[in-house]
Amino acid sequence: MRIDAGEPTPVPLDAIELFDPGAYLRGSQHGAWHTLRHHAPVRKEHTPWGTPYWSFTSYADCTKIIKDTASFSSEDGVILASVGKGDSAGGRTITLMDPPDHATLRQPAMRHLRQAVVRQNAEHIRASTRELIAPLLAGGEHDVARLMRGLPMAAAGRLMGFPQRYWETVAFNTTASVAPEDPEYAVGRSVEDTLRRVHHKLFAAFSEIVQERRRDPGDDLVSGLLAVRIDGRPMDDQQLLMNCYSFALGANSTTPHVASHLFHTLATQPKVWDAVLEDPELAGNLVDEGARWVSPTHHLVRRASRDVTVGDTEVAAGDWVCVWVASANRDERVFPHPYTFDLHREPNPHLGFGVGPHFCIGAPASRVALTTVFEELARRRIRFAPTAEPTHLYSNWINGLTRLPMTFTAGR
Ligand code: HEM
Repeated sequence: MRIDAGEPTPVPLDAIELFDPGAYLRGSQHGAWHTLRHHAPVRKEHTPWGTPYWSFTSYADCTKIIKDTASFSSEDGVILASVGKGDSAGGRTITLMDPPDHATLRQPAMRHLRQAVVRQNAEHIRASTRELIAPLLAGGEHDVARLMRGLPMAAAGRLMGFPQRYWETVAFNTTASVAPEDPEYAVGRSVEDTLRRVHHKLFAAFSEIVQERRRDPGDDLVSGLLAVRIDGRPMDDQQLLMNCYSFALGANSTTPHVASHLFHTLATQPKVWDAVLEDPELAGNLVDEGARWVSPTHHLVRRASRDVTVGDTEVAAGDWVCVWVASANRDERVFPHPYTFDLHREPNPHLGFGVGPHFCIGAPASRVALTTVFEELARRRIRFAPTAEPTHLYSNWINGLTRLPMTFTAGR
């Protein structure tokens, strides 16, 4: 989706279309979310297949819903595509489990991805990231969106126990699995054919990785998952593979797009990049404000597990609820001048990494990798400019770029 600086032009209520992925391809939805926050912060919507869902756009409501795991369940799916249909992995993967069961996977996984472990492994993450961006440091023309596909695995591939030879296939096929209609990812003759092919590739890779970690366990996430016992029993292979997919999806659907959108924003708002060139230590702020600015997951979905009131709205048990993270992150009641990219925004309580029990487990690793990208470029005084318009991902869930050709030159 295009991200513009400055107040968006509000879209009339009857012209708002939030479901159609094409709407995210053509322009920005920030005008629509602006109207909704001001005139209909809670609205009944319908999926194209007729299932009703509540759409919430204010920061206060979105935060309340996501934090309240006792009233709002993740088990039937967490994206609009699942509304009314459910998710076959429901209740079996870290993302699609509710507390207290969720902790049986969350706690062991945290041992391999938490801040302290990332700090110990930071040099490896930085080295993998430097290797990935070496072509940019050398200058010339590069497709940044394609290159940044490698960033999530540079951040977390090693911590997860995924050998490097799988990184490329995992990165490509996880995104294809959630954007099978996008021309960049449509590898089959139809959407179903693409999904069949990419799932086959992914699950074959995960299966080999699990077998490898079984033979040769290490201090990594997959080995940790192999040691998990639920009611005294290890997970079956299907549950293990689905969890590998959950982690791969969490990483690959987000990290590359924060990076590519940041590149585009910095090229179009050169003063921000000038400030980072002046003080490369600001790269950390850049990434945090970048996660707010980009909000790579536009929305999160939940299903009410009991009758509950949000603000003035009575949500009934069984109702589907969509929380627009990207709108919450522009809520002027929380973020002064929300349409300004502010390197010094403080506080910055954005929901880009989620909030509550499902808060992004990969946030520490992705922060190190993303910060390294921009800090390295700033230290070498590299400047960059787009050579063509970016191409956006066909998705109502991921705010992604598929193409972003840019030139890189060493600055003064
Ligand atoms: C800039 C990078 C990233 C962003 C913006 C991001 C965003 C998010 C968000 C919004 C959630 C909450 C989902 C929910 O509440 O349903 C989440 C959860 C999650 N993320 Fe990330 N993510 C990023 C990087 C990563 C990486 C690198 C990994 C891989 C290690 C990862 C793995 C996960 C997993 C497994 C969950 C589910 C956690 C749970 O349910 O307890 N993410 N992420």
